[in-house]
Amino acid sequence: MGKLIDRFRNKQAHVVVMGLGYVGLPLAVAFAEAGFDVTGLDLDDNKASAILNGKSYIQDVPDEQVQRLVASGKLKATTSFGVLRQADAVSICVPTPLRKTGDPDLSFILSATDELAKYIHPDMVVVLESTTYPGTTREILLPKLTENTGLKIGEDFFLAFSPERVDPGRTDWTTFTMPKVLGGITSNCTEVAAAWYGAALQTVVTVSSAEAAEMAKLLENTFRMINIGMVNEMAIMCDRMGVDVWEVIDAAATKPFGFMKFLPGPGLGGHCIPIDPLYLSWKMKSFNYNARFIELASEINTNMPRFAVSKVQDALNGIAKSVKGSQVLVLGVAYKPNIDDLRESPALDVIHLLQQKGVVVSYHDPYIPHFKQDDGEMHSVPDLMSAVSSADVVVIITNHSEYDYAAILDSASLIVDTRNALGSKGKESPKVVRL
Ligand SMILES: NC(=O)c1ccc[n+]([C@@H]2O[C@H](COP(=O)([O-])OP(=O)(O)OC[C@H]3O[C@@H](n4cnc5c(N)ncnc54)[C@H](O)[C@@H]3O)[C@@H](O)[C@H]2O)c1
Repeated sequence: MGKLIDRFRNKQAHVVVMGLGYVGLPLAVAFAEAGFDVTGLDLDDNKASAILNGKSYIQDVPDEQVQRLVASGKLKATTSFGVLRQADAVSICVPTPLRKTGDPDLSFILSATDELAKYIHPDMVVVLESTTYPGTTREILLPKLTENTGLKIGEDFFLAFSPERVDPGRTDWTTFTMPKVLGGITSNCTEVAAAWYGAALQTVVTVSSAEAAEMAKLLENTFRMINIGMVNEMAIMCDRMGVDVWEVIDAAATKPFGFMKFLPGPGLGGHCIPIDPLYLSWKMKSFNYNARFIELASEINTNMPRFAVSKVQDALNGIAKSVKGSQVLVLGVAYKPNIDDLRESPALDVIHLLQQKGVVVSYHDPYIPHFKQDDGEMHSVPDLMSAVSSADVVVIITNHSEYDYAAILDSASLIVDTRNALGSKGKESPKVVRL
């Protein structure tokens, strides 16, 4: 254990990051920047080749940084699991989606751990980063890594959980500066993993168990999901009463303490907030406990795309036009502003619901040139302003900052603004319907 810790302090350890997506690539880059020899391991040959060719496919990681780290030999990439044989330290950053039934899909964690189990050896430390329900590290990873290996946890090898908190598109908090919560299966595991992460990241916050670290991540994301659900319901209630929810939120936010601003919108998106709390509510069922806050917020948030579509119907009704056959332009399909991530985006539901009603839908997004639907592919309109002026209704779903909202307001004949992107100008304009 002491020797392994020294290898981290002296930056001599060989680090492998399994899964080179939104989480894994920035983490691999942070370890390489700290001076470790890092190999990124992914099933996707395109990702490994891109890195070896000095190309980043993650917006927050510049090409130049990948080129520099690859040229210096600090960063490598591969699809070959054999690289785990030489690894001192392994971070697992594979996806944790939901199944169609709403249950956790741990298949990526299971297959990554099965591969790792073939190569686990003494003096190795493994950290799971994928968001998951409390208990996964101990109940799923630990048996797989000890079965048939004869290795003893906390003595021969070390296992911990450390949740990733990256917020794509954010520049004030990065993988390096974001405090990293970490909890091991044993106290030795915590100590070794903290020596590794502490040698590369600015602040490591240790907790007493892997379960506490797993739960901390779910508390953070459940907090956001429930507060967004609450403010979405506030938007629905304000709508019924004819009160401007945006004005109400701004007024409440003048309170210097005890209030935190959350904004309503057309629904939740991304790989984390809509999904992670459901991992917790699923796990709680095995304790005969119904996680009511989570279920309620999920129900409200899931219905927000329908609420947004009802606003489009109201807008068309106001000009005596039928929904069927109308031309609707959706502005922004990414799940949040200024990023290129479409996962779980409410725009997909809004588009689908509009199409079901016979609407002719087009979209524009500077970050997402095209995307697949169940029955085909959609492409971003090439000429934004001509699409804005020819649409019956423009629906602002994602408030990307590069849009010229004043020009859009001038050119459009009718706008549904689900994000208050037009601000007070939208409030004053008779051609704008707001959430
Ligand atoms: N994206 C975010 O903003 C974010 C933030 C915090 C936490 N997380 C969590 O981090 C985890 C990873 O998310 P992500 O957004 O990076 O996912 P992602 O889909 O962008 O990347 C995951 C990568 O893992 C690879 N992979 C899958 N199985 C593998 C295996 N067996 N071996 C090696 N590579 C494998 C995939 O090919 C993919 O490149 C998830 O649990 C997610 O909930 C994500």
